[in-house]
Amino acid sequence: MGTRKTIAITGASAGIGAEIARVCAARGYDLILIARREAPLLALSAELEAGHNIRAHVVTADLGAPDAARILANAVAARGLQVDGLVNNAGFSKTTGFTTTDPAAQQEMIRVMLSVPVELARLWLPAMKQRGWGRIVNVASMAGFLQATGGDTLYGPIKSFMIKFSQGLWVESQGSGVHVSVVCPGYTYTEFHDVNGSREAVSAAYPKWMWLQADRVARDAWDAVEADKPRCIPGKRYQFLSVVSKLLPDSVGLKTAASHARKLKRV
Ligand SMILES: NC(=O)c1ccc[n+]([C@@H]2O[C@H](COP(=O)([O-])OP(=O)(O)OC[C@H]3O[C@@H](n4cnc5c(N)ncnc54)[C@H](OP(=O)(O)O)[C@@H]3O)[C@@H](O)[C@H]2O)c1
Repeated sequence: MGTRKTIAITGASAGIGAEIARVCAARGYDLILIARREAPLLALSAELEAGHNIRAHVVTADLGAPDAARILANAVAARGLQVDGLVNNAGFSKTTGFTTTDPAAQQEMIRVMLSVPVELARLWLPAMKQRGWGRIVNVASMAGFLQATGGDTLYGPIKSFMIKFSQGLWVESQGSGVHVSVVCPGYTYTEFHDVNGSREAVSAAYPKWMWLQADRVARDAWDAVEADKPRCIPGKRYQFLSVVSKLLPDSVGLKTAASHARKLKRV
């Protein structure tokens, strides 16, 4: 790999982000671990530095705050760190319905999962291209392919945006040494469904075979970006679903999505 590269990972304090950090550390990358909670970031940093010959820097940031991307980039620069790779992973959902969700929480969703990923890519990608090496992983979701559900009204559209945005970056980065991949996991065991309060409902509604392990998602995501594959769907069952969803007429897809939302008592 030559000189050691540094990968910045948002949402590294838990779930898929923490697992991507473990994969990257095992492959010899230095890391910048980013999230709001400092304690799990420090614990992960200590684990990775003890287990691998790497540095794992911790930068706390609330990516839902106004101007979060610029503030984060300044904090990273002030530490003298160069960003060679970016994993836009931080995210959460609100399943409380469009008109009954706090508008501030909706703004936060848009910032954390859409504006900040775009702004961080715009801030750090030009230098990656100039240096002739870079990696960008955007964590979207199967929800970005499927028809929109009620309840978590903004989540699917935000993830669809991330899929298309990533495709555009992939096309523009060809031949530059920068690899771009979007990863679209299905249901994955992390803190995600505890944070949005749907753990009990999703566990009752969806059988175990539908659930992915976060370490597997992380490995598939990183393998995809190293191979410069524009898209990664972990798990054969979800690869199949992504094909079927394209073939379904919208009317059928929407009915299926609505029944999903009812199962989860979101509408
Ligand atoms: N789990 C699934 O079933 C699933 C399926 C498809 C896609 N995804 C996507 O995978 C990504 C990771 O989610 P996960 O499943 O790993 O969930 P998770 O275990 O809840 O982790 C979410 C991460 O995002 C960070 N985060 C949330 N809000 C933040 C904010 N305002 N500022 C900074 N960091 C913030 C959290 O850190 P702090 O709380 O410490 O800030 C945490 O590290 C998300 O983009 C999600 O949409 C998840």
